[in-house]
Amino acid sequence: MAIPLKPTSESLTTVAKLIREGGVAVIPTETVYGLAANALDEAAVRRVFAIKGRPSDHPLIVHLASASELNGVAEDIPDLAWILAEDFWPGPLTMVLHKSLNIPKLVTGGRETVAVRVPFHSVTIWLLKEAGCPIAAPSANRFTRLSPTRIEDLDPEVLAQVDAALDGGQCDVGVESTVLDLTVEPPVILRPGGISAEAIEAVIGIALGRGVGESNKSPGQHPAHYRPRTPLKIVDHLTPEMPGIVFADASPCQIALGSDPVLFQRELYAALHRLDRGQYERVFIKAPPHEPEWAAVWDRIRRAAQN
Ligand code: TXA
Ligand code: MG
Repeated sequence: MAIPLKPTSESLTTVAKLIREGGVAVIPTETVYGLAANALDEAAVRRVFAIKGRPSDHPLIVHLASASELNGVAEDIPDLAWILAEDFWPGPLTMVLHKSLNIPKLVTGGRETVAVRVPFHSVTIWLLKEAGCPIAAPSANRFTRLSPTRIEDLDPEVLAQVDAALDGGQCDVGVESTVLDLTVEPPVILRPGGISAEAIEAVIGIALGRGVGESNKSPGQHPAHYRPRTPLKIVDHLTPEMPGIVFADASPCQIALGSDPVLFQRELYAALHRLDRGQYERVFIKAPPHEPEWAAVWDRIRRAAQN
């Protein structure tokens, strides 16, 4: 059982060395906590799949310290990737590119493409620089479960199996990165996330293609994902005795997350984890507006809910 460590120069040095040498650690990022391993170490990556209980054809995201390392993990990198990197890295944008030979197929779920991002969290960047290797890291939840955005929400079964865990506080973005496939023209969003389609379109000046979340393209996107243990239902209105998530005016069994999509999304997983601990038979969430800025929230709650 790993005891979560606060990030100090000593703990960071230890965890970076551990990752470089084939260990597995829970680390914070600005989106959600990740289950980190040296992306070039097949035995370590195999452990990540085992700890998560994740099928071997579900590819992992490779994290880099900076865009300048992209050439080491990807090939035939289109100009658009560099333009996007300039604007959105470090940050919650993951780009799917043609993989280079040194990235094991184990990491990419057998694909010829690799998903990469440069995270924004200072702890993650520090670890990447100190470890000196690309870090493969899926969200630190067990397969199909809710991602943790606070170390307290980490599944004890995950904590029991890792070599170390770093407590970087609550994740700022709160939902996973946007996954953008750049191996097709025009690029397609495979998973809505921390960066909106509109923001990407504004930078590249072209409309993104259709086909969001196509399951064979992005197998991590199957319908039963991000599930709390307690059945969740999306409803238009919650009465005060219905436990769940509202925008405002929460009763004692409810959590108000406000009506700003950025703040709502930051708190969403933590609120769902809290409700999950509440021993309720069923929990509810008020349907957010059908507006573009709520795309990532809608994507997650649709999969989390059993409507
Ligand atoms: O914010 C995030 O992206 C977090 C933090 C830890 O960085 N990571 C994360 O990883 O959410 P994970 O493994 O839970 O989700 C990765 C997503 C999945 O939907 C997966 O299918 C997609 O990225 N993906 C990874 N590699 C891919 C590839 N080569 N082609 C298409 N989709 C890919
Ligand atoms: Mg995940």
